[in-house]
Amino acid sequence: MSHNTLYTQQGGTPIGMKGREIVEKAGLDVDKLITMLNKAYCDEWLAYYQYWIGARLAVGIPRDHLEREMKEHAGQELDHADMLATRIIELGGTPEIDPGNWKKLSSCGYLPPDNPTVNELLEQNIQSERCAISVYIKILDYVRGKDMITGHIIRHIMQQEVQHEQELEDIRNDAETLCHCSDSK
Ligand SMILES: [Fe+2]
Ligand SMILES: [Fe+2]
Repeated sequence: MSHNTLYTQQGGTPIGMKGREIVEKAGLDVDKLITMLNKAYCDEWLAYYQYWIGARLAVGIPRDHLEREMKEHAGQELDHADMLATRIIELGGTPEIDPGNWKKLSSCGYLPPDNPTVNELLEQNIQSERCAISVYIKILDYVRGKDMITGHIIRHIMQQEVQHEQELEDIRNDAETLCHCSDSK
């Protein structure tokens, strides 16, 4: 069994055959697409955990606001992993089953919050969001005009990554303003 192909238990029609055929007929290398989606899938799990653990460890001002935002982002990263897994299976692939491989296969890696100040968490997660946006731009370029379904999913995810980045930038601006106000007292 190929790493990228998921078969039924009875050895019947491979799951995802139809979805794969549609995309193949449009001229895409489906195995390459599955690999790209699987890398993004690994990124999403790592992004989920980076936000989830960072939200619990955050210190500094405005911690409450950042914690709320990071918890919300964590949930959305998990939704993205779910959407990618669904699409990988539709294309006849298997989402990466071993968490031990997530970091190795990911494009954006994992930034541990070993210094969980508000400023540091903002820097790390803004950097990760920018990386995620660049990953999705590449996937979108690859499927453009050939796979509308993947294109639709990736556009939706990308729109949320752009929103995440903006929300973190806004908190960073708020934090800087707070800092300057207390300096001037
Ligand atoms: Fe995401
Ligand atoms: Fe994000």
